[in-house]
Amino acid sequence: MLSVRNLEVVYHDVALVLRGVSLTVPRHRVVALLGANGAGKTTLLRAVSGLLDVHDGRVTKGGVELGGRPIHGLGPERVVRRGVRQVMEGRRIFAELTVEENLRIGAHTAPRALGDNLARVYGLFPRLKALASRTAGYLSGGEQQMLAVGRALMSDPELLLLDEPSLGLAPRLVQQIKEIIAQINDQGTTILLVEQNASMALSVADHGYVLESGRIVMDRPAAELLEDDDIREFYLGLGAEGAARSFRDVKHYKRRKRWLS
Ligand SMILES: Nc1ncnc2c1ncn2[C@@H]1O[C@H](COP(=O)(O)OP(=O)(O)O)[C@@H](O)[C@H]1O
Ligand SMILES: [Mg+2]
Repeated sequence: MLSVRNLEVVYHDVALVLRGVSLTVPRHRVVALLGANGAGKTTLLRAVSGLLDVHDGRVTKGGVELGGRPIHGLGPERVVRRGVRQVMEGRRIFAELTVEENLRIGAHTAPRALGDNLARVYGLFPRLKALASRTAGYLSGGEQQMLAVGRALMSDPELLLLDEPSLGLAPRLVQQIKEIIAQINDQGTTILLVEQNASMALSVADHGYVLESGRIVMDRPAAELLEDDDIREFYLGLGAEGAARSFRDVKHYKRRKRWLS
Protein backbone atom coordinates (compact mmCIF):
# COMPACT_ATOMS: atom_id res chain seq x y z
CA MET A 1 0.00 0.00 0.00
CA LEU A 2 2.71 2.48 1.05
CA SER A 3 6.05 2.41 -0.67
CA VAL A 4 8.92 4.71 0.24
CA ARG A 5 11.71 4.46 -2.31
CA ASN A 6 15.26 5.63 -1.84
CA LEU A 7 14.04 8.72 -0.04
CA GLU A 8 16.38 11.59 0.63
CA VAL A 9 15.22 14.56 2.71
CA VAL A 10 17.04 17.80 3.37
CA TYR A 11 16.08 20.57 5.83
CA HIS A 12 16.82 24.21 5.04
CA ASP A 13 18.68 23.10 1.89
CA VAL A 14 21.63 21.96 4.01
CA ALA A 15 20.88 19.24 6.56
CA LEU A 16 20.64 15.82 4.93
CA VAL A 17 18.48 13.82 7.35
CA LEU A 18 17.21 10.84 5.33
CA ARG A 19 19.90 9.22 3.18
CA GLY A 20 18.11 6.89 0.80
CA VAL A 21 15.40 5.22 2.89
CA SER A 22 13.28 2.44 1.37
CA LEU A 23 10.39 0.88 3.22
CA THR A 24 7.07 -0.74 2.39
CA VAL A 25 3.88 -1.08 4.38
CA PRO A 26 1.63 -3.78 2.90
CA ARG A 27 -2.13 -3.35 3.15
CA HIS A 28 -3.70 -4.49 6.44
CA ARG A 29 -0.34 -4.91 8.17
CA VAL A 30 1.34 -3.18 11.08
CA VAL A 31 4.91 -2.10 10.30
CA ALA A 32 7.17 -0.75 13.05
CA LEU A 33 9.86 1.85 12.44
CA LEU A 34 12.35 1.86 15.31
CA GLY A 35 15.27 4.11 16.02
CA ALA A 36 16.86 6.32 18.63
CA ASN A 37 16.16 10.02 19.05
CA GLY A 38 17.22 12.01 16.01
CA ALA A 39 17.38 9.00 13.66
CA GLY A 40 14.88 10.61 11.27
CA LYS A 41 11.67 8.75 12.12
CA THR A 42 9.45 11.81 12.37
CA THR A 43 11.00 13.20 9.20
CA LEU A 44 9.98 10.06 7.33
CA LEU A 45 6.40 10.42 8.57
CA ARG A 46 6.38 14.08 7.52
CA ALA A 47 7.50 13.09 4.04
CA VAL A 48 4.56 10.70 3.81
CA SER A 49 1.92 13.02 5.24
CA GLY A 50 2.96 16.13 3.33
CA LEU A 51 4.19 18.06 6.35
CA LEU A 52 7.79 18.63 5.25
CA ASP A 53 7.04 22.03 3.73
CA VAL A 54 5.94 23.43 7.07
CA HIS A 55 9.36 22.53 8.48
CA ASP A 56 11.34 23.82 5.51
CA GLY A 57 12.19 20.27 4.50
CA ARG A 58 12.41 18.94 0.96
CA VAL A 59 12.55 15.58 -0.81
CA THR A 60 15.74 15.72 -2.88
CA LYS A 61 15.73 12.14 -4.16
CA GLY A 62 13.40 9.15 -4.33
CA GLY A 63 9.74 9.35 -3.45
CA VAL A 64 6.64 8.09 -1.68
CA GLU A 65 3.88 6.12 -3.39
CA LEU A 66 0.48 5.16 -2.11
CA GLY A 67 -1.24 2.40 -4.02
CA GLY A 68 1.23 2.92 -6.87
CA ARG A 69 0.64 6.67 -7.19
CA PRO A 70 3.16 9.26 -6.00
CA ILE A 71 2.05 11.38 -3.04
CA HIS A 72 5.18 13.32 -2.16
CA GLY A 73 4.66 16.89 -3.16
CA LEU A 74 0.95 16.80 -2.31
CA GLY A 75 -0.13 19.08 0.53
CA PRO A 76 -1.21 17.57 3.86
CA GLU A 77 -4.92 18.05 3.13
CA ARG A 78 -4.71 16.11 -0.13
CA VAL A 79 -2.76 13.32 1.54
CA VAL A 80 -5.53 13.02 4.14
CA ARG A 81 -8.05 12.79 1.32
CA ARG A 82 -6.01 9.96 -0.17
CA GLY A 83 -6.62 8.04 3.06
CA VAL A 84 -3.50 8.73 5.10
CA ARG A 85 -3.67 10.22 8.56
CA GLN A 86 -0.84 11.01 10.98
CA VAL A 87 -1.02 11.18 14.75
CA MET A 88 1.76 13.56 15.63
CA GLU A 89 4.17 13.10 18.47
CA GLY A 90 3.13 14.77 21.70
CA ARG A 91 -0.65 14.37 21.53
CA ARG A 92 -1.64 17.56 19.77
CA ILE A 93 -5.22 18.20 20.73
CA PHE A 94 -7.29 21.35 21.08
CA ALA A 95 -7.06 21.86 24.82
CA GLU A 96 -9.91 24.39 25.12
CA LEU A 97 -12.42 22.27 23.21
CA THR A 98 -14.36 19.32 24.54
CA VAL A 99 -13.47 15.74 23.71
CA GLU A 100 -16.33 15.43 21.26
CA GLU A 101 -15.53 18.75 19.59
CA ASN A 102 -11.99 17.49 19.04
CA LEU A 103 -13.38 14.36 17.42
CA ARG A 104 -15.79 16.30 15.21
CA ILE A 105 -12.95 18.47 13.95
CA GLY A 106 -11.12 15.27 12.98
CA ALA A 107 -14.03 14.42 10.71
CA HIS A 108 -13.82 17.52 8.52
CA THR A 109 -12.72 15.53 5.46
CA ALA A 110 -15.42 12.89 5.97
CA PRO A 111 -18.45 14.81 7.26
CA ARG A 112 -21.04 12.39 5.88
CA ALA A 113 -19.68 9.40 7.79
CA LEU A 114 -19.35 11.38 11.03
CA GLY A 115 -21.89 9.32 12.95
CA ASP A 116 -20.36 5.99 11.99
CA ASN A 117 -16.83 7.12 12.71
CA LEU A 118 -17.81 8.60 16.06
CA ALA A 119 -19.44 5.29 16.98
CA ARG A 120 -16.27 3.43 15.98
CA VAL A 121 -14.07 5.72 18.07
CA TYR A 122 -16.34 5.47 21.11
CA GLY A 123 -16.39 1.70 20.64
CA LEU A 124 -12.60 1.58 20.70
CA PHE A 125 -12.33 4.10 23.53
CA PRO A 126 -15.29 3.83 25.93
CA ARG A 127 -13.37 6.20 28.19
CA LEU A 128 -13.64 8.97 25.59
CA LYS A 129 -17.39 8.45 25.41
CA ALA A 130 -17.62 8.91 29.18
CA LEU A 131 -15.55 12.09 28.85
CA ALA A 132 -17.30 13.41 25.71
CA SER A 133 -18.30 16.78 27.15
CA ARG A 134 -15.13 17.26 29.21
CA THR A 135 -12.63 19.98 28.22
CA ALA A 136 -9.78 18.12 26.53
CA GLY A 137 -7.05 20.05 28.33
CA TYR A 138 -8.09 18.46 31.63
CA LEU A 139 -7.65 14.90 30.41
CA SER A 140 -4.76 12.76 31.63
CA GLY A 141 -1.80 12.07 29.34
CA GLY A 142 -3.13 8.65 28.42
CA GLU A 143 -6.60 9.99 27.69
CA GLN A 144 -5.17 12.76 25.52
CA GLN A 145 -3.19 10.20 23.53
CA MET A 146 -6.40 8.21 23.01
CA LEU A 147 -8.13 11.39 21.89
CA ALA A 148 -5.34 12.14 19.41
CA VAL A 149 -5.66 8.65 17.94
CA GLY A 150 -9.46 8.85 17.98
CA ARG A 151 -9.41 12.17 16.17
CA ALA A 152 -7.23 10.70 13.42
CA LEU A 153 -9.67 7.81 13.03
CA MET A 154 -12.54 10.25 12.43
CA SER A 155 -11.48 10.52 8.77
CA ASP A 156 -11.53 6.71 8.54
CA PRO A 157 -7.99 6.49 7.14
CA GLU A 158 -6.75 3.46 5.24
CA LEU A 159 -3.26 4.11 6.52
CA LEU A 160 -2.61 5.42 10.01
CA LEU A 161 0.81 6.87 10.90
CA LEU A 162 1.54 6.86 14.64
CA ASP A 163 4.49 8.87 15.95
CA GLU A 164 5.62 7.48 19.32
CA PRO A 165 2.16 6.96 20.82
CA SER A 166 3.62 5.40 23.97
CA LEU A 167 5.98 8.28 24.76
CA GLY A 168 5.75 9.35 28.39
CA LEU A 169 2.98 6.92 29.29
CA ALA A 170 3.01 4.52 32.27
CA PRO A 171 3.48 0.82 31.42
CA ARG A 172 -0.19 0.01 31.98
CA LEU A 173 -1.20 2.68 29.45
CA VAL A 174 1.47 1.56 26.98
CA GLN A 175 -0.13 -1.89 27.11
CA GLN A 176 -3.54 -0.31 26.47
CA ILE A 177 -2.25 1.66 23.50
CA LYS A 178 -0.75 -1.54 22.10
CA GLU A 179 -4.08 -3.35 22.39
CA ILE A 180 -5.85 -0.44 20.71
CA ILE A 181 -3.35 -0.53 17.83
CA ALA A 182 -4.03 -4.24 17.35
CA GLN A 183 -7.78 -3.62 17.41
CA ILE A 184 -7.62 -0.75 14.92
CA ASN A 185 -5.59 -2.99 12.63
CA ASP A 186 -8.09 -5.85 13.05
CA GLN A 187 -10.78 -3.45 11.85
CA GLY A 188 -8.89 -3.11 8.57
CA THR A 189 -6.63 -0.09 9.02
CA THR A 190 -3.01 -0.38 7.87
CA ILE A 191 -0.53 1.06 10.39
CA LEU A 192 2.98 2.48 10.30
CA LEU A 193 4.07 2.67 13.93
CA VAL A 194 7.07 4.80 14.89
CA GLU A 195 8.40 3.94 18.33
CA GLN A 196 11.40 4.07 20.60
CA ASN A 197 9.66 1.44 22.71
CA ALA A 198 10.84 -1.48 20.61
CA SER A 199 9.35 -4.27 22.67
CA MET A 200 5.89 -2.75 22.50
CA ALA A 201 6.15 -1.98 18.79
CA LEU A 202 7.57 -5.36 17.78
CA SER A 203 5.00 -7.27 19.79
CA VAL A 204 2.18 -5.70 17.78
CA ALA A 205 3.90 -5.35 14.37
CA ASP A 206 4.29 -7.86 11.56
CA HIS A 207 7.50 -6.37 10.27
CA GLY A 208 10.10 -3.97 11.62
CA TYR A 209 12.67 -1.54 10.29
CA VAL A 210 15.49 0.04 12.25
CA LEU A 211 16.51 3.54 11.23
CA GLU A 212 19.87 4.92 12.24
CA SER A 213 21.22 8.32 11.19
CA GLY A 214 18.86 8.45 8.24
CA ARG A 215 19.54 4.94 6.95
CA ILE A 216 17.68 1.67 7.35
CA VAL A 217 20.12 -0.71 9.03
CA MET A 218 17.73 -3.61 9.66
CA ASP A 219 14.61 -4.85 7.95
CA ARG A 220 13.08 -8.09 9.19
CA PRO A 221 9.94 -9.78 10.45
CA ALA A 222 9.06 -8.37 13.87
CA ALA A 223 9.33 -11.77 15.57
CA GLU A 224 12.93 -12.12 14.33
CA LEU A 225 13.88 -8.62 15.46
CA LEU A 226 12.54 -9.40 18.93
CA GLU A 227 15.01 -12.30 19.10
CA ASP A 228 17.95 -10.38 17.64
CA ASP A 229 20.84 -9.84 20.07
CA ASP A 230 21.63 -6.31 18.86
CA ILE A 231 18.00 -5.27 19.08
CA ARG A 232 17.69 -6.84 22.50
CA GLU A 233 20.79 -5.10 23.72
CA PHE A 234 20.30 -1.64 22.27
CA TYR A 235 16.54 -1.25 22.02
CA LEU A 236 15.06 -3.60 24.56
CA GLY A 237 17.64 -2.83 27.24
CA LEU A 238 18.59 -6.47 27.68
CA GLY A 239 22.29 -7.18 27.43
CA ALA A 240 23.67 -10.56 26.41
CA GLU A 241 23.96 -11.31 30.12
CA GLY A 242 20.22 -10.73 30.42
CA ALA A 243 20.51 -7.79 32.79
CA ALA A 244 17.80 -5.21 32.33
CA ARG A 245 19.00 -1.76 31.39
CA SER A 246 16.87 1.29 30.85
CA PHE A 247 16.52 2.68 27.36
CA ARG A 248 17.93 5.93 28.68
CA ASP A 249 21.25 4.20 29.32
CA VAL A 250 21.12 2.49 25.98
CA LYS A 251 20.36 5.72 24.16
CA HIS A 252 23.59 7.29 25.32
CA TYR A 253 25.61 4.22 24.61
CA LYS A 254 28.19 4.96 21.95
CA ARG A 255 28.38 1.76 20.05
CA ARG A 256 30.38 0.44 17.17
CA LYS A 257 28.41 0.35 13.97
CA ARG A 258 28.26 -3.40 13.84
CA TRP A 259 25.12 -3.36 11.73
CA LEU A 260 26.77 -1.35 9.02
CA SER A 261 29.99 -3.31 8.80
N1 LIG B 1 12.66 21.43 11.00
C1 LIG B 1 13.91 20.96 11.10
N2 LIG B 1 14.95 21.70 10.69
C2 LIG B 1 16.22 21.23 10.78
N3 LIG B 1 16.55 20.03 11.26
C3 LIG B 1 15.55 19.24 11.69
C4 LIG B 1 14.18 19.66 11.63
N4 LIG B 1 13.42 18.68 12.12
C5 LIG B 1 14.28 17.69 12.47
N5 LIG B 1 15.54 18.02 12.21
C6 LIG B 1 16.74 17.19 12.43
O1 LIG B 1 16.62 15.99 11.68
C7 LIG B 1 17.13 14.90 12.42
C8 LIG B 1 16.05 13.85 12.53
O2 LIG B 1 14.98 14.36 13.30
P1 LIG B 1 13.63 13.58 13.49
O3 LIG B 1 13.10 13.18 12.18
O4 LIG B 1 12.76 14.41 14.35
O5 LIG B 1 14.14 12.28 14.28
P2 LIG B 1 13.35 11.28 15.24
O6 LIG B 1 11.90 11.45 15.03
O7 LIG B 1 13.85 9.92 14.83
O8 LIG B 1 13.78 11.62 16.63
C9 LIG B 1 17.58 15.45 13.77
O9 LIG B 1 18.96 15.65 13.69
C10 LIG B 1 16.86 16.75 13.89
O10 LIG B 1 17.60 17.67 14.63
MG1 LIG C 1 10.36 11.92 16.36
